Amino acid sequence: MTKNTLATRAFAALRELIQSGRPLIYICTTEETRAHQILKDASRELFRTEVPVWTWSVTAGLCRPDGNPAEGESLGARGVLDFIAEYPQPAIFQLKDFHEFFGDSPETRRRLRDLYELCLDRTKFVVITSASRAIPEELGPQIAFMELLHPDLEELEAFLRIELSGLEGRGFKVDTSEASVFRMARAIQGLTLDESRHALRRALGARGALDSESLPHLLEEKKLVVNKSGLVQYIADGTQIEHVGGVDYLKKWLHERRKLFLERDTLAAEIVPKGVLIMGVSGCGKSLSVKAIASSFELPLYRIDMIEVYSRRHGTPDGAFAEACHLVEAVAPAVVWFDEIEMGLTAQTGEASNDLGRIFAFFLTWMQEKARGLFVAATANRIDLLPAEMIRKGRFDEVFFIDLPTEDERIEIFRIHLQKRRIDPEPLQVHRLKKITQGWTGAEIEQCVVSALTSARLEDREPAFEDLHRSAQNVIPLSKTMREQVDHIRSWAYDRAVRASPRESIR
Ligand SMILES: Nc1ncnc2c1ncn2[C@@H]1O[C@H](COP(=O)(O)OP(=O)(O)OP(=O)(O)O)[C@@H](O)[C@H]1O
Ligand SMILES: [Mg+2]
Repeated sequence: MTKNTLATRAFAALRELIQSGRPLIYICTTEETRAHQILKDASRELFRTEVPVWTWSVTAGLCRPDGNPAEGESLGARGVLDFIAEYPQPAIFQLKDFHEFFGDSPETRRRLRDLYELCLDRTKFVVITSASRAIPEELGPQIAFMELLHPDLEELEAFLRIELSGLEGRGFKVDTSEASVFRMARAIQGLTLDESRHALRRALGARGALDSESLPHLLEEKKLVVNKSGLVQYIADGTQIEHVGGVDYLKKWLHERRKLFLERDTLAAEIVPKGVLIMGVSGCGKSLSVKAIASSFELPLYRIDMIEVYSRRHGTPDGAFAEACHLVEAVAPAVVWFDEIEMGLTAQTGEASNDLGRIFAFFLTWMQEKARGLFVAATANRIDLLPAEMIRKGRFDEVFFIDLPTEDERIEIFRIHLQKRRIDPEPLQVHRLKKITQGWTGAEIEQCVVSALTSARLEDREPAFEDLHRSAQNVIPLSKTMREQVDHIRSWAYDRAVRASPRESIR
């Protein structure tokens, strides 16, 4: 056991229960083997002399600490409890999926309660490992519950060292330097050990080697796993801050926070950036800015899908929301994006409005308590619908309003979208489009660029100013068709949010 394994949060949680003398422990985890390993570490490290770790499951029966079946007939659920009761020495007993037998008979439950007394202060520990939490009410006071959280960075580094040296021994080319192990551990953070093993195999299969260049392949596995939940998506998007036109105040703010965020481990908690709320007119770059934040902070981006949260496909909305928040805790450091956080806030009554109340209450506490390595970026179109506490200072570091782009910003956005498509903007004289594009959103500018380039392409020629001008004439901006709504958002934001851009200069 390395020094690192002792420092893991999983080990620390178990140590606390064992050292406080809790004889009945329930570990909720899908990682049975990992739980077993941690029990073995504990058996070596936490007692004066090492204690044996027995295991039991309904299929394999009782197994000795060396993994071989115990003599005699295989014991059933009731039998194993009797065996433990009579066992004369200190020991740890891991009972796999024992929750399945709670319902069987009152006798089994009673026997377990007896075990509490029989094991107390005798260095005997009964540890139930199960993928779900199912503790009968009458056993609640006796059983200490612990959720085996995803492996943290220390545990992953220790795991990687073992795996890498195994692979090295088998002749694979692996980089075992400290820096490389650290970067790989970061890349797989959020995965279970089994999933991490798959990620390593995948990366090895792709390149025949494991080193810093394998990171994209490791991240690929993470994307699959987090996406599997359906609640959280990993967003692989290379949007850089330079791809966002305008919003200079927002950019300046981010630049400052980036520095603080990178130094988060050495700073007082209250100055570590927690998150930002971005509101604004649809199509003006809220989503785009969030993607740019992730790349500017050099962090992966995870999006919590509010449609899924409210869908009831994952149980109650507040339960699903909490689950999503816990999932992202495991992948810190990261940027977590709550897209359209106000979704579902219109005219909710009865049960639905209770759901919302619980979701927002949870969110506010979570914002205060979440891991330092998580930066929250929430976006909203109708921020006026959000509860006041949500936008109050202190929850988010700042609330930004992205308005329709100014003249100069519009030209910058034209340039960005032309350059993105490898067209030199200079000969196209985009500055001549300032007036005709008044009231346009960034999305409309992009649409205009695409349609101009398409016309030119259809005629097999280079695009010209006329193509842009002609397309521009066909655009009917949202700010005209939905004037009232846009005006409402703007006036609401006027004194409640910080503008993301300087005001339009009046000439
Ligand atoms: N400031 C900008 N700079 C460059 N492109 C922009 C800008 N604003 C919008 N766009 C273009 O418009 C598209 C839509 O923008 P985005 O998705 O960020 O809007 P949004 O504010 O999130 O809108 P919604 O409320 O509809 O989600 C972007 O993918 C981008 O191509
Ligand atoms: Mg958006």
